[in-house]
Amino acid sequence: MSEEIFIVESGHKIAGTVKVSGAKNSALKLMAASIMASGQTILHNVPKISDVEVMKQVLAHIGAKVSYQQNDEHTLVIDTSTVDSFETPYELVSKMRASTSILGPLIARFGQAQVAMPGGCNIGARKLDLHFRALEKLGVKTVQELGYINASSPHGLMGAEVVLDFPSVGATENVMTTSVVANGVTTIKNAAREPEIQDIAAFLNEMGANIEGAGTPTITITGVDELHPCEHTTIGDRIEAGTYLCAGALCKGPISVEGINPQYLDKPIKFLQEMGCTITRNSTKINIFRDEKLKAHNISTLPFPGFPTDLQAPFMLLCSVADGDSIITENIFENRLMIAEEFMRLGAHIDIATSKKLQESNVPSANIIDSHQAFVKGNAQLYGVDVRCTDLRGGAALVLAGLVAQGKTKIHDIFHIDRGYENFAQKLTNLGAVIERLSL
Ligand code: EPZ
Repeated sequence: MSEEIFIVESGHKIAGTVKVSGAKNSALKLMAASIMASGQTILHNVPKISDVEVMKQVLAHIGAKVSYQQNDEHTLVIDTSTVDSFETPYELVSKMRASTSILGPLIARFGQAQVAMPGGCNIGARKLDLHFRALEKLGVKTVQELGYINASSPHGLMGAEVVLDFPSVGATENVMTTSVVANGVTTIKNAAREPEIQDIAAFLNEMGANIEGAGTPTITITGVDELHPCEHTTIGDRIEAGTYLCAGALCKGPISVEGINPQYLDKPIKFLQEMGCTITRNSTKINIFRDEKLKAHNISTLPFPGFPTDLQAPFMLLCSVADGDSIITENIFENRLMIAEEFMRLGAHIDIATSKKLQESNVPSANIIDSHQAFVKGNAQLYGVDVRCTDLRGGAALVLAGLVAQGKTKIHDIFHIDRGYENFAQKLTNLGAVIERLSL
C-alpha cells in the first residue's frame, strides 16, 4: 500500500484568515447519540475527517442510513429508524477509540450493548473502568469477555448519583446518554466540563432530554420516556483553532481564526499572550500576531477549563524555539510526550524527565518532577528532516514545526492528521505555507 507524506518547506510568510471546522470530539458523539431517537437527525458543521467516516461505518453497521445532504459536505443526514443491532465490532472500534461513545446511546435505545474492547492506544492505556463503575449505578451490568464489553440492564435503567473519581470526558458522556431515558433523576458529580460536553447536552435536550448543569462539575439529568430526532449545528473545533493560533505564534502572523468561541480557549490564549503574542477576539473570531521574541512558558495539562492535553504538542514546539527553558507536565495521558522524540530529530532540546535527570538540571525542586514531564530547553534552531506522526495532535505539531525548520521537513504517517483536521495542509497553504502531499 502506498504511503502518503507531507513535505513542508519553511521560510514563507504565514498570514491571513482561517476558518475552523466543526469539533471532532463533539461531532462523533453527536452522531453516536443520534441513534437514541428513531427517525431522521440532521447534523450541521460536521468536519470532513476520517474519524467521521469511521463513525459513519459504525452507524451503518448497526443499521442506520447515513448520507451527506445534497450540495453540503458538512451536513449529515442520519436515519436511525432502521437501526436494529446493538453490536459494534472490533474492526471498527479498533480504528477509532471514540467508537466507545456508542455504548451509552445503545444502552439507552436497546437496554443493552455489545461493543468491542478498544484496547490501549499510542497516547496511553485509556481504561474504561470509570465508565463501567458509573453505569453500574444506573443499573447497567457490564461484563468483559472474549474482547467485548457486554452491557445489559436486566431491571431497567434507574437514575442515581454518580461520582466520578476523575472528570473523564468519555465517562461523563456515556453516563449522560444512558441516564437520559433512565427512570428518575441522575446526578453526575465531578463531571467533565469540556465545551463538547455542553454541545452534546444541548443536542440531547433538543431531542427532548432534560439535562441541566452541563459545563459545570454537577450535571443533573431527569429521565424522559422518549426522544425525538432533531437538527443541530456542531460547535467549532477549539483544538483545531488552537493549532492555528500556535501557527500564528510560531510564524508571527497576523492570523485570524474564525468559527470558534474564544471562551473555549481562555487558558491557551492567556499562555500565548504571556509568551509574547498579541491577541484580540470577538465572539466568533481570534486574531493573533507576534512582534517580539517568543518567551518560554511552563505548561501543565488539566481537564477543562485547564490547559488542554490536545494542545500540549504544539505548545511543546513553541517552547522549543522560545527564549528560555520550559517544563511541560502532561497530567491526562501517560504517553503523550512521545512526540518530543520527533521534535528532537528536528533539533529541539527536550528531556523527558526522570526525577534524576531533572534533579541534576537547574530546575527548582519546587516543581514536581516525574516521568510525565518534559524539560524543554529553548532557542533551538530546527532543521527539516524525516519525522513520523505518533498521534493526531503530535502530527499536526510536526507540520507546524516544518513551517520554521530550515529546509524541507518530510512528515510520515500523516493518516493520523487526517483523522482530526479537515484539509489541514490546504488551510495552511491558504495562509501562505508551502506543503506538498505526496504518495510514495
Ligand atoms: C477525550 O478522550 C478526547 N477524545 C481526547 O481527544 C481528549 O484528549 C480527552 O478527552 C481529554 O480532553 C474524544 O473525545 C474522542 P478521558 P477520552 O476519558 O474521553 C483516564 C484527540 O486527540 N481514564 O477524559 O478518552 C484515561 O486513560 C483526543 O482528539 C481512566 O483511567 O478522555 C486518560 O488518562 C485524544 N478510566 C484520562 O482518564 C476511565 O474509565 C482522561 O480520559 C476513563 C478515563
